[in-house]
Amino acid sequence: MTADVSIRPLAGSLGAELFGIDLSGPLSDGDIDTIRSAWLDNLVLVFRDQTLEPQQFLDFARRLGEPGRYPFVPGLDEFPEIIEVKKLPEERNNFGGIWHTDTAYLERPPTASMLLARDVPAAGGDTEFANMYAAYESLSDGLKSVLSGLRGVNCSALADVSRTREDRTSKDGPAPIDYESIHPVVRTHPETGRKSLYVNIAHTARFDGWTEEESQPLLRHLFNHQVKSEFTCRLRWDVGTLAIWDNRCALHNPINDYHGHRRLMHRITLTGDVPA
Ligand code: OGA
Ligand code: MN
Repeated sequence: MTADVSIRPLAGSLGAELFGIDLSGPLSDGDIDTIRSAWLDNLVLVFRDQTLEPQQFLDFARRLGEPGRYPFVPGLDEFPEIIEVKKLPEERNNFGGIWHTDTAYLERPPTASMLLARDVPAAGGDTEFANMYAAYESLSDGLKSVLSGLRGVNCSALADVSRTREDRTSKDGPAPIDYESIHPVVRTHPETGRKSLYVNIAHTARFDGWTEEESQPLLRHLFNHQVKSEFTCRLRWDVGTLAIWDNRCALHNPINDYHGHRRLMHRITLTGDVPA
């Protein structure tokens, strides 16, 4: 393992900055083990001052998993696995600007999502994250037992989340297709063995076998509960900040507080399993 690696938590519940590893250089297997275990422990792992070229970003991602494709926005011409997450000064919507986990409407949502900041406003454009192990563990035994039998119907086309993709899909991409997948409301992390709450306000429309009307009160309770401040951290980006989050057990919410400024991130997701 590289000497002088240190870690600093971002908040009490999740998130940590890892210092002392230069991701542009060759990484030893020990470095990758250090990164993987810090990521599994902290859910969101942040590196500062990583001015990687797209090829280097992709090389690093490939050490951690298999880069996948995002259905709604095409990738860079030379690097189709890298998409631009951007908001231009004249735009009002920010991509993914709602609490969510990435592409829960797919049969196999990504294991991890990685963002590398390319251009950020002087202030604003932070991203919040929330710990879904903690959200689950703090529920009562009664509610845990109700949820243990439930599956959520996750859709790509709910109005609030569709709006957050509008500027990207209308200008840069093909007409959207609607996706839907049914996943357990409480999933077990295949690597840590821990249970987490797997619903989100952007995608989860109802419980499988329940009507929307029946589902709404309990879903609303879970949506409010899962983003309580004590389960969250907040990341301030600079150019060269790279974050990897565990998309199986963390939610994220990019804050749309920088109208009139440009923000550009490069994103890679790593392919995942069917939630169980
Ligand atoms: C995403 C997303 C977060 C951000 O790329 O999946 O939700 O901070 N973006 O831009
Ligand atoms: Mn997202």
